[in-house]
Amino acid sequence: MAAERIDGKQLAARMREEMKAEVESLKKQGVMPGLAVILVGDDQASRTYVRNKQKACGQLGIKSVLIELSEKVSEQTLLDHIQSLNEDPDIHGILVQLPLPAHIGAQKVIEAIDPAKDVDGFHPINIGRMMTGQDAFLPCTPHGILKMVQSKGIAITGKHVVVIGRSNIVGKPAGQLFLNENATVTYCHSKTADLKSYTSQADILISAVGKAKFVKADFVKQGAAVIDVGMNRDESGKLCGDVDFEEVKEKASYITPVPGGVGPMTITMLLANTLKACKKLNAVKVSRR
Ligand code: GUN
Repeated sequence: MAAERIDGKQLAARMREEMKAEVESLKKQGVMPGLAVILVGDDQASRTYVRNKQKACGQLGIKSVLIELSEKVSEQTLLDHIQSLNEDPDIHGILVQLPLPAHIGAQKVIEAIDPAKDVDGFHPINIGRMMTGQDAFLPCTPHGILKMVQSKGIAITGKHVVVIGRSNIVGKPAGQLFLNENATVTYCHSKTADLKSYTSQADILISAVGKAKFVKADFVKQGAAVIDVGMNRDESGKLCGDVDFEEVKEKASYITPVPGGVGPMTITMLLANTLKACKKLNAVKVSRR
C-alpha cells in the first residue's frame, strides 16, 4: 500500500491560523511582535527564502524589518547592526540569513545575537539548552520535522531514527530533538561507510543531504516514515527532494512531499519562535515595572 503523505503545507496553515489569533490578542494588549531579518549580498536563493519569511510575517500581522547589506559589508558593520537590534525593544527576533560571504565569521555573527532574540536557535546557548533538555529556541527545520511526525501520531519512543546529514542547521539538531523524545538515533553523513546498512534499519528516516532523488527504495525499511529535507532540482530543472518519491512511497508508511512538506514548516516554526520571544521579552518588561 502506498504511503500516507505528511502534508506540511496543511499543517503549517493550521498552525499559522492559531498563531494569527495569538498575534491579534497580543496587539489588543498593545504588543506588536517584530522580526528583523538581515540579508547580506545578492544570493538569489537567500533572497527568495527571506522574501517568503517576510510574506509569512505579513500574513500573521507580525512586523518584519529587512536590513539589506552589500556583499562587501565589513564584519564590524554587520555586528553593529546586530547590536542595535539587540537593544531595540520593538524587535523580538533577529535572523541573519546564511550563508554569509567568506570574509565574515558566521559563528561570530551568530554569537553576537542576543540568545533571547535568537529565533533561528543557532546560538550556542540555545543549542546547549536544547541538548540538556531545557526550554530553548529550537532550530526551525528540525522542530518542524518533529511537529510533522507528531501530527500523525507516529511513535518515536524506542524507535530508531536515522539522520542522513550532519549540518549544524538541520542534521545535528534533528537527531538531538528525536533523542530528547526517547528515540535511538544514528547519524550518517558523506563519510559513512555502507550507508544503506543504516538507513534500511530506520523506523524514521530523515534525509538532509541536498542530492536530488538520492534516497531510493532499497535505502528504506518496509513501513518506515520518511522525511525529506532536500530542496533540489532534477535533470529537467523541476524542484525535488533528496528522496525518490515515486519509488519510496510504495515502501514507506509515511512520506513528506517536496514541495509542500518540510519547507512550509520551517517558516512556521520561525513565526512560532518570534511569538515565543515576543511573549518572553514582554513578560520580563511587565515584571520589571
Ligand atoms: N539558510 C538556510 N536555512 C537557514 C535558516 O534556517 N536560517 C538562516 N538564518 N539561514 C538559513
